[in-house]
Amino acid sequence: MLHSLTQLSSLLSDLPKGQLFVLTDSHTKVHCLPLFAEFIGENPYLLLTLEAGEEHKNLMSVQVVWDFLFKHHATREAVLINLGGGMITDLGGFAAATYMRGIRFVNIPTTLLAMVDASSGGKTGFDYQGVKNAIGTFTPPLATLIHPEYLHTLPATELLSGFAEMLKHALIASKEEWVKLLQLAQEELQQDQWVEALSSTGALQASMAIKEKVVAQDPRETGWRKILNFGHTVGHAIESATLENNPQPHGYCVLWGMVAEVYLSVVKAGCPREVLQQLTQIMLQWYGRPQCDCRQREQLIARMYQDKKNNANCSPNFTLLEDIGQPLINQHIAEADIDEALEYLFSV
Ligand SMILES: NC(=O)c1ccc[n+]([C@@H]2O[C@H](COP(=O)([O-])OP(=O)(O)OC[C@H]3O[C@@H](n4cnc5c(N)ncnc54)[C@H](O)[C@@H]3O)[C@@H](O)[C@H]2O)c1
Ligand SMILES: [Zn+2]
Repeated sequence: MLHSLTQLSSLLSDLPKGQLFVLTDSHTKVHCLPLFAEFIGENPYLLLTLEAGEEHKNLMSVQVVWDFLFKHHATREAVLINLGGGMITDLGGFAAATYMRGIRFVNIPTTLLAMVDASSGGKTGFDYQGVKNAIGTFTPPLATLIHPEYLHTLPATELLSGFAEMLKHALIASKEEWVKLLQLAQEELQQDQWVEALSSTGALQASMAIKEKVVAQDPRETGWRKILNFGHTVGHAIESATLENNPQPHGYCVLWGMVAEVYLSVVKAGCPREVLQQLTQIMLQWYGRPQCDCRQREQLIARMYQDKKNNANCSPNFTLLEDIGQPLINQHIAEADIDEALEYLFSV
C-alpha cells in the first residue's frame, strides 16, 4: 500500500489514455481538488462530482458513477480515484468494485475519519432502505494515499469525529498511543497547529497502522476484526436514534458509545477506572454530552438488540477492554448492566 500523494504519478504511468476517473463531492471539489491537480500534473482525468452528505450515499449516486464510467467508455483497465471523506471512498469504492466485475480504485481520504478508518480495510458500500452500509463488498483499494494537508480546511466537528476513531484505535491497541492522544487533547492549539501535531507526533500514522494490522489479521470480520467495533454497539444506537431529528457526526456517537463501553469494561472486565475518567474528561471538554436524554435509554437498548451485527435472539454483542490494548470480543451483557452504563453516560 502506498502512502504518499507524490507516488501517484508512478502508479498511473502505464494507464491507457482516457482511463483515469476522479470522484469528488461538492465540498472536496472546492477544498481538495486544487492540491490534487498540482500532484497529478499533466495527466488528464475525467471528473465527476456528487452532492456532499451521507444522504447522498445511496444507490442513485452509485448509478450516477456507473453511468459516468459507461458514458466515457471506461474499460477494465480504468482507475477511479476517490477524493473525499468516507462517503466518497465507500461509495466510489463500491461503484468501482462492481463496474465490469471490478476496476481498480485509489482512495485519497480528505477527512481525518477517512484517513484513519474508512479509506482502508476494504469495506465499500452504500446506505439502503434506511440501513447504513446495507449493501457493500470487501474490496481493497489499489492504494490509499495520505496527505494530512487536506485536514486544514476540515470543519472542527469533522476533525473531532475522526479523533474519536483515533482514540478507539489507541484504546484497543496501544497504551503509548493513548498517552500521546491524551496529551494532544489537552493542548490549546489552533486547528492548523493541531493538524500539524497529528502528523509530527506520529499519531496519525500510528492510528492508520493499527487499523491496517487488525484488518490484515481478519479481512472479512469473522472474529478479531470485531475489536474495531469497540464503542460502536452503543454508538450506533445513539447514531440511529438521533438520525431523524438531530443527526450527530458518527465519531461523536462512537465517543459517547466508548464512554458507556469503557464503563462496562470497568464493571465487567476489570479495566482500570482511570481510563474511564480520562475518556470522560475528553468527552466533557470536547464533545459534550450525548444529544439524546436518559428517557430514551429503553429505546437505545432496543436498538442494540436490533443491530445487524448481533446474532438472532442474542443479547447485544460488545467488545470490551480488560485494559488499554487488551480487547475482548463477543461479550454479551445483560440489559440491566447496559442500562447502568447509559445512566453513567447521561448523568456524568
Ligand atoms: N469503509 C469503512 O471501513 C468505514 C469506516 C468508518 C466509516 N465509514 C463511512 O464513512 C462515512 C463517514 O466519513 P466522513 O466522516 O469522512 O464523512 P463525509 O465523507 O461525509 O465527510 C464529512 C464532510 O466533510 C466534507 N469534507 C471532506 N473533506 C473535506 C476537506 N478536506 N475540507 C473540507 N470539507 C471536507 C465532506 O464534503 C462532508 O461534508 C460514513 O458513510 C461511514 O459509513 C466507512
Ligand atoms: Zn466508526
